[in-house]
Amino acid sequence: MYLGLDLGTSAVKALLADETGMVIGSRSASLAVSRPQAGWSEQDPQQWWQATCAAATALAGDFPSQMAAVRAIGLSGQMHGLTALDAADQVIRPCILWNDTRAAAQAEHMDSTMPLFRGIGGNAVMPGFTAPKAVWMAEHEPDGFAQIATILLPKDYLRFRMSGERMSDMSDSAGTLWMDVAARGWSDALLEACGLTRSQMPGLVEGGAPAGRLRADLAREWGIDGTPVIAGGGGDNAAAAVGLGVTAPGDAFLSLGTSGVVFAVTDSFAPAAESGAHAFCHAVEDTWHQMGVILAASDCVAWLCEVTGTDVETLMAELSSHPVESTDLMFHPYLSGERTPHNDAAARAGFFGLARHHGRVDLTRAVLQGVAFAIADATDVLRQAGAAPSSLLATGGGAQNTRWMSYIAAVTGLPITLPVDGDFGAALGAARLGMMADGMTKDEICHTPRIREEITPDAALADLLAPARETWQDIYRVLKRVRDR
Ligand code: XUL
Repeated sequence: MYLGLDLGTSAVKALLADETGMVIGSRSASLAVSRPQAGWSEQDPQQWWQATCAAATALAGDFPSQMAAVRAIGLSGQMHGLTALDAADQVIRPCILWNDTRAAAQAEHMDSTMPLFRGIGGNAVMPGFTAPKAVWMAEHEPDGFAQIATILLPKDYLRFRMSGERMSDMSDSAGTLWMDVAARGWSDALLEACGLTRSQMPGLVEGGAPAGRLRADLAREWGIDGTPVIAGGGGDNAAAAVGLGVTAPGDAFLSLGTSGVVFAVTDSFAPAAESGAHAFCHAVEDTWHQMGVILAASDCVAWLCEVTGTDVETLMAELSSHPVESTDLMFHPYLSGERTPHNDAAARAGFFGLARHHGRVDLTRAVLQGVAFAIADATDVLRQAGAAPSSLLATGGGAQNTRWMSYIAAVTGLPITLPVDGDFGAALGAARLGMMADGMTKDEICHTPRIREEITPDAALADLLAPARETWQDIYRVLKRVRDR
């Protein structure tokens, strides 16, 4: 039996899978994000830990014999978060998350004056990555920065609490921008550029390699016999790729969670920093990936629910009696700024073209369309960067919405495949990485899921959406010019 733990932004999920990779069950515990200032996004690592223990013990309560038989654990998590510990291993400040844009000025400065970040790190310096956040901390919280003994990524903080080990994996660590991504190791030059050294960084292993062992007292608390090995694991997108069997060059998936991601596997390090594409290591050996990331995908729907005082089910039920067509009410999904393709932390979301007759249902349709356009922009970036996907396997909460998938298929021109009902996300990928740490091979376990439905691009819908997308892109450009004045 194998346990996958995925530390998301809105919840921690604990999942049990058996030796064949079949999911036995999963339990989640939710997390809140704190936004103390505009553009900031933080979480208290103690909250992660409590949620992890809650999810694990709930799973143990419902599946006691299977939990007792866990042989290995895999970890996956939201990427890029800066978790800084002092010499006494205490958290110095709340974690600065992946969708926090406070380090925009630092990122811009580093990107324009330190070409080694694009060269060795392989990516444009974006404010969400870990390196500019540390520089922000050095400038704004120098006392806290001076106390940093260890920097960990979110899932690796869980590992530290679970095992006492300071370890990470290649896929998640590439997102710090302190790695030599081609060589799969820390870069002293990149660390030094941020006033840090290798001694403050965790050890590195591949995602399926052992990197710690569960403490005996926790194993007892979680109802596990023995002290299972903990695999290196992966950043949530790379782990989701493992869960979906997206491990061979050319394979690709689309994830619609809080963020939106188009992910394509590459057989070598393939940077394309100028286009806003991310180029990181994969969680499996000898592979890398390119990624287009939009910061708010399902988060836009969550926001619409909040401001209209309703829930997703109600919004989608209202929309269901309306045809799937384009709307001239434009929505830009840049609630947290944007990464791909704009790398523009100051970009903001907005509706454009509101008229007196528009109601909630029109807002919902505009939000789905606007996110679809942003996903199409990210997909175009991957096409230009060389990792052109020929179809997308869809995952994440938003992927259950077939209307939304129809928009995305039409506007990207790519067929979208939907797996049979089931759990093929990052938590399963983490459990699979645990299986590898227990001696199984990638080829034995990284199968693609059975497909429930393929959504092919609808040519008529594509014709309707194309001019709307052009207008939508023009509005962003014009507003950017106004901001830059
Ligand atoms: C990827 C990214 C997000 C987070 C959220 O670069 O920032 O997908 O990992 O889960």
